[in-house]
Amino acid sequence: MLEATQFEYDLALLDWHLELGADEAIGETPINRYALEKPAPKPKPAAAPAPHTPITAAPVAFNSTPLAQACNSLDALRSEVESFAHCTLKQGARTTVFCDGNPAARVMIIGEAPGREEDREGKPFIGRAGLLLDKMFAAIGLSRHEAAPESALYITNVLPWRPPQNRDPKPEEIALMKPFLLRHIELVQPDFIVTMGNASTKTLRDTALGINKMRGQWGEVLGIPALPLFHPAYLLRSPEKKREAWADLLSLKARLDGK
Ligand code: URA
Repeated sequence: MLEATQFEYDLALLDWHLELGADEAIGETPINRYALEKPAPKPKPAAAPAPHTPITAAPVAFNSTPLAQACNSLDALRSEVESFAHCTLKQGARTTVFCDGNPAARVMIIGEAPGREEDREGKPFIGRAGLLLDKMFAAIGLSRHEAAPESALYITNVLPWRPPQNRDPKPEEIALMKPFLLRHIELVQPDFIVTMGNASTKTLRDTALGINKMRGQWGEVLGIPALPLFHPAYLLRSPEKKREAWADLLSLKARLDGK
């Protein structure tokens, strides 16, 4: 694993700004657009709030907590998950996707579930969304390939198996696998957790609120500061949200820098 140079860091930042939509430099003097007067917001049509259900409220058919808690190392946890036979998702998956990156990292990212590429390769976030995730974090000086804990990332998912046709995880699948995820966090003991997207945030923050409300809202998971971020797959579909994602990444950077 390599240390990033300032040049590589600047390049990654530039890359992320291109992702944000910047395609030219238009002036020598910076303009603080946040300080400019905003147009009055359009009145929103009154709509009944969508009924949200916390994912964690689902009934659990098998109690996996004792199995998870008995694992005293990441290797033991990985083998327990790989041999776990109570989740039907496993039958349709090619591989068990356990983690990627550096377990000594200060930041642990938790996504939803593997997609097609991840299922094929056995690593989380390596498809299109994963490439964007790498760019997002590179822009604040973090990488899954780094050896130094302060600039490294550790990545896992709520579910280790790909749901068929990438459908949303079912509450009972999440409830069944959540004890393994909690043990995973306890064994890694990161300084900060990033929950990427709805499923991860709802599962770990025990909230019924969606990611649009939760993003950027610091809270705790097992006593560890945790920040929800938009999922990169959502950012690929809704590029206008990248600005908010950038603000949230800067909030993480500020905490990492002790601000
Ligand atoms: N989306 C996720 O949430 N996790 C992955 O590993 C890939 C895509």
